[in-house]
Amino acid sequence: MIIIDKLYKKFDKNEVLKGINLEIKSGGIIAVLGPNGSGKTTLIKSILGMVIPNSGSIALNGMPVKNNWKYRNDIDYLPQIANFPGNLKVKELINMIKDLRTEKKADDQHLIELFKLEPFLDKKLSNLSGGTKQKVNLVLTFMFDSPLVILDEPTSGLDPISHLRLKELIKVEKEKGKTILITSHIMSFVEEIADEIVFLLEGKIYFKGSIDQLKIKTLQPDFEHAIASILTSNYA
Ligand SMILES: Nc1ncnc2c1ncn2[C@@H]1O[C@H](COP(=O)(O)OP(=O)(O)OP(=O)(O)O)[C@@H](O)[C@H]1O
Ligand SMILES: [Mg+2]
Repeated sequence: MIIIDKLYKKFDKNEVLKGINLEIKSGGIIAVLGPNGSGKTTLIKSILGMVIPNSGSIALNGMPVKNNWKYRNDIDYLPQIANFPGNLKVKELINMIKDLRTEKKADDQHLIELFKLEPFLDKKLSNLSGGTKQKVNLVLTFMFDSPLVILDEPTSGLDPISHLRLKELIKVEKEKGKTILITSHIMSFVEEIADEIVFLLEGKIYFKGSIDQLKIKTLQPDFEHAIASILTSNYA
């Protein structure tokens, strides 16, 4: 579904992605992991055309994404930091986003129920708590039924019940045959839902494979220690 070839991106002198080659097949959940600043969001934004790489190419379903915006219609994206217009009410924002994507059928009602957002629909976005804003962010992402879903830190700020609901939601969407690309620092969450992981380190893909394969590679008994062993050997 996504083929990334020799992707290179630097911001001034900061070389963030140093020749990423990555193929993401259709269907299933793939987690992009790596320490803060390792380039996960930059990689995601490159796929979305929100960051323009210095070199390399990205193709989605065989079509290069460069100079082609229509492919975005088939992607639902949850940004890591959502900057909502504070003066809008929650329901106004939901309706505005629906109006922007008229070509897509939106089902916001079941998501509003899932995340218990009814009491907040008439509240202004600037008055919401961080976790509630994140739930609104999730509704905006999942209300369109696109085949590729990209979630940048979806658990951010969620309470335990909402976290559970999100996991259920992601699993249901996967069962529909979707491809779901996720970044997260919550290892238990990744371990529960990811079919495959990609670990970014120092601008390169340090590892791509299953969690079991990572445990074997690092000689560690569990996923958390496997990740910790990569990070500590690189921090040392
Ligand atoms: N628009 C930008 N201008 C300049 N530097 C940027 C920009 N966006 C990202 N960077 C830099 O690129 C590097 C990678 O940032 P990125 O946001 O991709 O990391 P990340 O892996 O998503 O981190 P986190 O886990 O904190 O979300 C960082 O050093 C960051 O400061
Ligand atoms: Mg990020």
